[in-house]
Amino acid sequence: MKIVNYNGFRDAAQKRLPRFIFEYIDGGSYDEHTLRRNVDDFKAVTLRQKVLRDVSNLQLGTRLFGRDMALPVALAPIGIAGFYRRRGETQAVRAAEGAGIPIVLSTMSCCPLEEVRAASARSFWMQLYIIRDRGFMKDFLLRMEKAGIDTLFLTVDLAINGIRYRDRIGGLAGSQSLLKRPDRLLDILSHPAWAWDVGLMGRPLTIGNVAPAMPNGAGLKQFQAWVARNFDPSVTYKDITWLRQHWKGNLVLKGITDPCDAVRAVEEGMDGIVVSNHGGRQLDGSLSSIAALPQVRDAVAGRMTVMLDGGVRSGLDVLRALALGADSILLGRAWAYALAARGEAGVSQMLAILKEELEVAMALTGQNDVRALDSDLALPHP
Ligand SMILES: Cc1cc2nc3c(=O)[nH]c(=O)nc-3n(C[C@H](O)[C@H](O)[C@H](O)COP(=O)(O)O)c2cc1C
Repeated sequence: MKIVNYNGFRDAAQKRLPRFIFEYIDGGSYDEHTLRRNVDDFKAVTLRQKVLRDVSNLQLGTRLFGRDMALPVALAPIGIAGFYRRRGETQAVRAAEGAGIPIVLSTMSCCPLEEVRAASARSFWMQLYIIRDRGFMKDFLLRMEKAGIDTLFLTVDLAINGIRYRDRIGGLAGSQSLLKRPDRLLDILSHPAWAWDVGLMGRPLTIGNVAPAMPNGAGLKQFQAWVARNFDPSVTYKDITWLRQHWKGNLVLKGITDPCDAVRAVEEGMDGIVVSNHGGRQLDGSLSSIAALPQVRDAVAGRMTVMLDGGVRSGLDVLRALALGADSILLGRAWAYALAARGEAGVSQMLAILKEELEVAMALTGQNDVRALDSDLALPHP
């Protein structure tokens, strides 16, 4: 099957993955209004067509947190990617490296960060959830330092888990025991390529980073109970002060959509923020990321790096977000589906497609450099 865009990767992933995993990736919270808005609102951002400018030498590279990037894009933290493809995070990091961009590795990756680090020639960025167990947190921060990680994305929009109906209906939630879940067993057996690649050859299917804190096993079943016990809804800036004492690298807050929260992040000395609603998986009914961006950017007024994720499906969307003030983009489901569909080669292909789309979008809007776009390039979502 010829894949030419995001939808092609999504279709291929849907065919290959057992349903409970596809629904986990694809779904959002409640009736998924924000999930849809994230995508639809991008389409409502109008770009100006500008002509007769020399666009023969396009500059797509940028520099963020001291790192040169070949594209203004990085891979967003996506949990349990090792369930999408064999040792999925190692395949993704290699594809990202090949394209000259970083991945933000999820705390909830299947492969522990050391395994991912061994798979790549250089270090990457890391996402963090604040866990109640401060001993674990200190160890985890030390492990990151040892792996040469210098930039941490602290996810702040998950004080508590969003309610995701798709996970509750035949999805990831509930018992993981195949004996108690004949529907799950059937689901797996009817996807033999996945069952072989991931179910058999992709073991151990654990949450590698937190496995040391889970002596009774780090499979999906124990993981859900562990998250319920260890995610801390009482987190505030006092915990970030604690984090700052133990982490000397860059600190970026992921999950800001409110301009007041953005201003506070500046005042508290954060190095950056990601305008994000967790891909529509947390507060349903909230603003889409792209609709939230202009106000946040104005509130921050150039005082810190502003990234965006949520609903980016093409290079055209990347240009729209940059034109409205993002310094860079994180790609979420785009790489999750590409990985599920075709592994490392799929993520590389997806990034190549995105690059070409960005180049075409820049050329047809008369832009030469992603870091110096015309200020009137995009009319925001109304
Ligand atoms: C399957 C899935 C798993 C995710 N896991 C994490 C995670 O472990 N940590 C995190 O900060 N965000 C996580 N996110 C949110 C993404 O980092 C990102 O904010 C979101 O996917 C962007 O929206 P998009 O998928 O429309 O690009 C996850 C999103 C998806 C779809």
